[in-house]
Amino acid sequence: MNKIQRAAVILAAGQGTRMKSSRPKVLHEVAGMPMVYYPLQLAAELHCDPRLVVVGHGAATVEAYLADSGAGFVRQEEQLGTGHALRCAAEALAGFNGTLLLLCGDVPLLRRETLDRLLAYHESEQAAVTVLTAEVAEPRGYGRIVRAGAEVLRIVEEKDASAEEQALREINTGIYAFAAPFVFAALEAVGCNNAQGEYYLTDVLAIARQGGERVRALATDDPAEAQGVNDRVQLAAAGVAMRRRRNEALMREGVTLVDPETAYIDPAVRIGTDTVIAPGVHLQGNTSIGRDCRIEPGVVVRDCQVADGVHLKAGSVLEGSQVGAACAIGPMAHLRPGTVLAGHNKLGNFVETKKAILAEGAQASHLTYLGDAEIGRNVNIGCGTITCNYDGVNKHRTIIGDNVFVGSDVQFIAPVRIGSGSLIGAGSTITRDVPEDALAIARSEQKIVEGWAARKRKAREKK
Ligand code: UD1
Ligand code: CA
Repeated sequence: MNKIQRAAVILAAGQGTRMKSSRPKVLHEVAGMPMVYYPLQLAAELHCDPRLVVVGHGAATVEAYLADSGAGFVRQEEQLGTGHALRCAAEALAGFNGTLLLLCGDVPLLRRETLDRLLAYHESEQAAVTVLTAEVAEPRGYGRIVRAGAEVLRIVEEKDASAEEQALREINTGIYAFAAPFVFAALEAVGCNNAQGEYYLTDVLAIARQGGERVRALATDDPAEAQGVNDRVQLAAAGVAMRRRRNEALMREGVTLVDPETAYIDPAVRIGTDTVIAPGVHLQGNTSIGRDCRIEPGVVVRDCQVADGVHLKAGSVLEGSQVGAACAIGPMAHLRPGTVLAGHNKLGNFVETKKAILAEGAQASHLTYLGDAEIGRNVNIGCGTITCNYDGVNKHRTIIGDNVFVGSDVQFIAPVRIGSGSLIGAGSTITRDVPEDALAIARSEQKIVEGWAARKRKAREKK
């Protein structure tokens, strides 16, 4: 048997009124990613192609955000209901006759394994529609699954349900697998004669039965994963649940989280074994952390590659940087984008770098700014050193050779080049290039006036 083709449609056109936000609901973040990222990611992992997002409210914003996600877009100009929303994708899926997975943009906690089961069951049963259901204690607000024995008859929306139906505890999660040709044909027959005056996607089940098609339902193991996000309380709860799940997976893979409740690790972040992460650490975006690293409290890392054996000390912030093996950073260092540390580098407290490339073993232990700089092997940058890279119009580079020793409180007025092996005297303002192995001192000479202070004091006492 040929493998059945799969496509996915993600409904994301609704307004999300209860978020009370000018931002489209599906772009609100759960554990560091906009909600819609999660169903899209699942659809990609399940090799659904195409993956279409139905957009309406804030469509342009959502499309712009997902421009590089590999998703296609279908516009639903007026939100006339879930059935109408899927119908908007009919043209884009004309001729597709595989399995259509329908997901919602505001259900971020759904797990891959659950969808695997849903699709496998749907396809093995050769059903026209298989709905993912959940047994919940509090079914209010959801559509209810109406059965006759094991047979699924239909779904009834809360507002259309009889008292007897409202007592049912098996709910519609809003996630389905469909036989594509069937569902688009059935949607033609869906009307809006109901309590909300909407085109209900759920009506497709009853239509399938009437047509003698197979209707199936599969219950989730964990009803919590089907929970939608409608307001900011649920948004925060989903974030906590998502982080907990992710952090547990990391711990099982060999990462120590001292207090997993306060480790804020985005879904795309990778971390090597035996790395220890203290409370209050944020690892964001496209970040990777090596093995045997130590990350102290309050560290924020965004879009960085950190190699093995690195020690990130308390309160440091790293953005868009590469940190080689066995570096020690901080406490309270700030690595800005374009920083590249080759390895065995030390950047101490209150050191800021930007577009700074440090060769193996170079270090700056205290109170330093290195911007637009290239720094050679084993260079020592003294306390308080500043690369003066900006003349008010342009940025200029400071290039320092290998094994240079820079004394404390030196300013490099860029552009300037320092030859390898040279020594820069403390307190110097370096405006011209320095040759190899030289000594450069650029500070005014010290004057001594004997007895001056004592005379001054006496004069004051007389007054
Ligand atoms: C829907 C189901 C209900 C189910 C519940 C699960 C219907 C008629 N009801 O109800 O059985 O228990 O989901 O959460 O399907 N959307 C659009 N365009 C529209 C309307 C909705 O894109 O015109 C999107 C929303 O953005 C959202 C999803 O579809 O992502 C669900 O819509 P929502 O209005 O929340 O559906 P419910 O009324 O909760
Ligand atoms: Ca609704």
